Amino acid sequence: MTPYLQATGVEVSFGGLKALNDCSFTIQQGRITCLVGPNGAGKTTIFNVITGFLRPGTGSVSFKGQALDGWKPQAIVAAGIARTFQNLRLFIDLTAVDNVLASLPGQVGEEPVAAIFRPFHVGSAQRRRREEARAILDRVGLSARANDFVRNLSYGEQKLLIIARVLATGAELLLLDEPASGLSAGALEGVMTLLRRLQDDGKTLLVVEHNTRVVQKIADDVLFLHQGHLMAQGSPETIVNDPALAEIYFGGAL
Ligand SMILES: Nc1ncnc2c1ncn2[C@@H]1O[C@H](COP(=O)(O)OP(=O)(O)O)[C@@H](O)[C@H]1O
Ligand SMILES: [Mg+2]
Repeated sequence: MTPYLQATGVEVSFGGLKALNDCSFTIQQGRITCLVGPNGAGKTTIFNVITGFLRPGTGSVSFKGQALDGWKPQAIVAAGIARTFQNLRLFIDLTAVDNVLASLPGQVGEEPVAAIFRPFHVGSAQRRRREEARAILDRVGLSARANDFVRNLSYGEQKLLIIARVLATGAELLLLDEPASGLSAGALEGVMTLLRRLQDDGKTLLVVEHNTRVVQKIADDVLFLHQGHLMAQGSPETIVNDPALAEIYFGGAL
């Protein structure tokens, strides 16, 4: 069977440092896979490779059997893979709904001729897009905040808005870089519930997560990255309870 997403022998060097070193793994469709490992293990770097922001020195990534080598980020989004960034990258001087609109494909406003000769058509298309953006905000529990400026949203609401934006791309495989970091206990529960609901909607999730409690709650499968290499893969129970991995992860702090 063709793997859903497969990384094979991926290597990325920054000067003398190998951020990814013969990194290989597969992830399965419809699952929530958590990507864990100590700081600097290469988690964000593999996201950058999968989404076309970085070209690996060697190795490749394939999605549903198709090699993504050399593809531009936009083409990879169109193929169905979208990601969030560890730092938020929201437009803080726009409203929540306008942030989502900016990620919806197919900007009608980019057709000036249609706007002049078919203004009603363009107007109704824009209304539909706005409704779609509002529906996505509703999905993540932010409909009451649609018209608020992002700078007035709480940190937890901004983290939800980031997920709304990645949903707006329509991608089926979502790569989320630390969606739960820095959240209060209540907001954390909300994000975990949302991720499960997205899975029920048919999305596949690859999630960088540090909180082992969150990993145990949401992961179907865990990838443990260490020094740019896949060190272990398994169920949350086996990974979290492996003393050798805990030693690497927490440096004996436990
Ligand atoms: N653009 C870059 N230039 C130089 N070194 C980088 C760059 N990006 C990441 N690194 C280094 O690569 C390693 C992996 O980084 P990263 O993928 O961000 O780790 P993680 O997300 O697992 O914490 C780290 O040692 C980091 O300092
Ligand atoms: Mg990172």
